Amino acid sequence: MTTTAKTSELVIDISEQICTLTLQRPQLANALNFDLLEALRHTLGELRCSGDFRVCILTGAGEKAFCAGADLKERATLPPEQVRRFIATIREVTDRLADFPKPVIAAINGLALGGGTELALACDIRIAADTALLGLTETSLGIIPGGGGTQRLPRLVGKGRAKELIFTARRIAAAEAAEIGLIEKVVPSAELAQQSRQLARNIAQNAPLALEMAKWAINYGYETDLLTGLQLESRAYDVIIPTKDRLEGLAAFQQKRKPIYRGE
Ligand code: COA
Repeated sequence: MTTTAKTSELVIDISEQICTLTLQRPQLANALNFDLLEALRHTLGELRCSGDFRVCILTGAGEKAFCAGADLKERATLPPEQVRRFIATIREVTDRLADFPKPVIAAINGLALGGGTELALACDIRIAADTALLGLTETSLGIIPGGGGTQRLPRLVGKGRAKELIFTARRIAAAEAAEIGLIEKVVPSAELAQQSRQLARNIAQNAPLALEMAKWAINYGYETDLLTGLQLESRAYDVIIPTKDRLEGLAAFQQKRKPIYRGE
């Protein structure tokens, strides 16, 4: 099934069991204004229970930018209470991405600054064009990362590196981002769409409930001690044991064929 929808400046395409969300404000480096942020928040809520796809890709329109963070032109017009509302909304968006029951890939097609890097940090896997630049630039604007960046960046790259990046507000190239573990893979810009789609296809062929529970165990287990984490893993496994897909995996192995998983 192929579905394409557009809410405000967010394009949603569902095909081959992959849902691609594209930030569509290329003339403003895909910066997040209230409308786009709200579209993302709403869409992630709606898609949460959808059975139409198995993996999500988040990307930006055009070749220049993934997302240049908060719309600073709009921000200049906002009174403090609206700024607070914006920050609460971007937090909700990044939390919804991190907690999305299906794997989410950030396909970073260009600049990812401030909230742009924070969106990517909230995804499960980050793959970037070799032309991409990333950075939490907020302290240079007199603010701090508010979309989870102060928490998710240290968890990926370590406390010292995160502090160095946030305190200096410096932008780093994709190669350095990969070296420090901020992103998982760098590919030639022209191959980004195809390679992120291939990655999504590779994931989508595996059992949906197993993917969901593996993500759950990693996410929640990472935030606790090993013994508690191992308990979480056992509980996640308990969810999988009664599934039809587990039996299908065994049957396909015995019959030397590809498994057909239904998420049941
Ligand atoms: N908010 C609103 N508009 C933005 C924007 C943002 N975060 N980032 C870029 N734009 C706009 C520019 O103002 C410009 O619009 P204009 O043509 O109406 O002036 C357009 O996008 C293109 O950007 P421009 O600056 O001309 O391109 P560039 O290649 O010289 O630089 C950036 C692009 C993204 C590096 C630069 O605009 C920038 O540093 N933006 C701020 C990014 C940032 O720090 N975000 C964190 C926010 S917390």
